[in-house]
Amino acid sequence: MKGAGSNFKAVFINALRRLRYFKYYKKFPRCGQNVLLCRNGFILRPEQMSVGNNVYISGGFYISAHELIIGNDVLIGPNIVIECSDHITDRVGIPMVRYRNCKRHGGVVIEDDVWIGANVTVLRNTRICEGAIVGACSLVNKDIPPYTIAFGTPAKVFRRRFDNESLKKHLDMVKSKYTHDQVLNHFAASGIVLGDEKRVVTPSAAFIL
Ligand SMILES: CC(C)(COP(=O)(O)OP(=O)(O)OC[C@H]1O[C@@H](n2cnc3c(N)ncnc32)[C@H](O)[C@@H]1OP(=O)(O)O)[C@@H](O)C(=O)NCCC(=O)NCCS
Repeated sequence: MKGAGSNFKAVFINALRRLRYFKYYKKFPRCGQNVLLCRNGFILRPEQMSVGNNVYISGGFYISAHELIIGNDVLIGPNIVIECSDHITDRVGIPMVRYRNCKRHGGVVIEDDVWIGANVTVLRNTRICEGAIVGACSLVNKDIPPYTIAFGTPAKVFRRRFDNESLKKHLDMVKSKYTHDQVLNHFAASGIVLGDEKRVVTPSAAFIL
């Protein structure tokens, strides 16, 4: 069993870690409890980034924020890039670097209970829905439906995390904002075939479930 000494040590270490990025924490419009940003990270426009409770962002992150919302219980692997803006590219007769500060921005939402693997890039105007997993080395440029595992460039849903019965139970237990029907509707809208099997092997389908 852990003693008071090790609790004190954990609190002390957390305080030190927060100190490292105080310049960011103090600018977040919302920063929940137990938020940890690991080493070697950079955030552009932290005042555009809200962070929920129990959020762990591993080392080497690069975040260019604009209306960026990270929910509760989110785990992000090393070297994430979240890029909420694009350079404008259509000015005739001018090299792009010269008007690099003219940008198009778009928000990113990472909902509760999401796990993002290592070396993932998330582009603007995307939402990674509750309970989703994004596999290592993926590019997210479209919404990822709730409770699915997606990966690749661009990231596509590979399978659901739960069969129908477990999903219903899980949504109740975590007091999800989604109803069972809403998640199933998300699956339908994303072309994910419904069924009790988590993964149905249909190689020609856009989404394999
Ligand atoms: C996506 C992931 C969670 C596994 O999901 P899974 O459904 O259990 O997938 P499996 O391991 O059964 O692999 C299924 C298939 O998907 C492929 N696959 C798995 N992850 C992949 C990825 N990130 N990119 C591309 N293909 C991937 C596998 O090669 C396998 O293909 P095959 O059937 O042709 O052999 C895991 O592969 C992953 O990417 N984890 C992230 C780990 C990480 O980055 N951790 C950092 C610390 S937070």
